[in-house]
Amino acid sequence: MNSLLKGEDLPGLIIAIDGPSGAGKSTLSKALAAELGYVNIDTGAMYRAVALLATRRQLALDDASALRLLCRQMQLEFRRNGGQERVFVNGEDISTAIRLPEVSLLTSKVAACSAVREELVQMQQQLGEKGGVVLEGRDIGTVVFPQADIKFFLTASAEERGQRRFEELRAKGMSVDLQQTIAEVRARDAADSSREHAPLCRAEDAIDIDSTALGIDQVLALMLGMVKERLEN
Ligand code: DC
Repeated sequence: MNSLLKGEDLPGLIIAIDGPSGAGKSTLSKALAAELGYVNIDTGAMYRAVALLATRRQLALDDASALRLLCRQMQLEFRRNGGQERVFVNGEDISTAIRLPEVSLLTSKVAACSAVREELVQMQQQLGEKGGVVLEGRDIGTVVFPQADIKFFLTASAEERGQRRFEELRAKGMSVDLQQTIAEVRARDAADSSREHAPLCRAEDAIDIDSTALGIDQVLALMLGMVKERLEN
C-alpha cells in the first residue's frame, strides 16, 4: 500500500467519489480518507437516516414540508469508534438500521424529494467547505462540490455489485437470494438515474474507475497515485 502521503503536511483537498451503489465507494472513501488523514463524509448515510426517521414517524415520503422539517431538526453526527465509523441521529447509533434492505429501497424515494436534497446538500457543503475531506455519493462532483479538486466516478457491472452486496448481507447472517439482490441493484440504479432532481450522473471532469475486475487495494493505489499527482502539480 502506498503510504507516502500519510503524515505529510497536505493541503486540504476536496475529493469527490460518485457512482452507483455497490461499486465500492464506501470502502474506498473510508480507506482514502484514512490514508490522507482526511475526514470521510458518507452522504448516502444522510439520505438513509432521513428515510429511517421518516418511516419511524410514519411521514408520507412525498410530504416535502414534513421531510424538510425532519432534515432541519435532525442532529446528525459521524463518529469514529476505534477503526469503525458510526452514524448517530439524535444521539442514537443508527449505523446498522440504515443498512437494512427495506431502508435502502425507501431511501431512493426520499432521495428523489427536492426539499430533502436541498437541505442535505447544504449540510454537506458546510461539512466539506474547509477541505481535507473525501465525500462519497451520487452528486458530489456535479452538485455538492462542482469545484472539487479531484473527482472520481467509480463503477462496476450490476452483476458484480449484486454479488458483492449478496456476500455482504450473507456475512451479516441475513437470508438473501443472489438474483433478487442483483435485481434490487438494477432497480436502485434505475431510480437513481431517472429521478428528476440530481440524478446520478458523471461530472465531465471526473476520472472513471471500473472496479469490476479490481480489488480494493488496487483501486485505492490508483486513487492515491492520482491524488499524489494532483498534489504535486
Ligand atoms: O450510497 P448509498 O447506497 O448509501 O445511498 C443510499 C441512497 O441514497 C441511494 O438510493 C442513492 C441515494 N443518494 C443520493 O441520492 N445522493 C447522494 N449524494 C448519496 C446517496
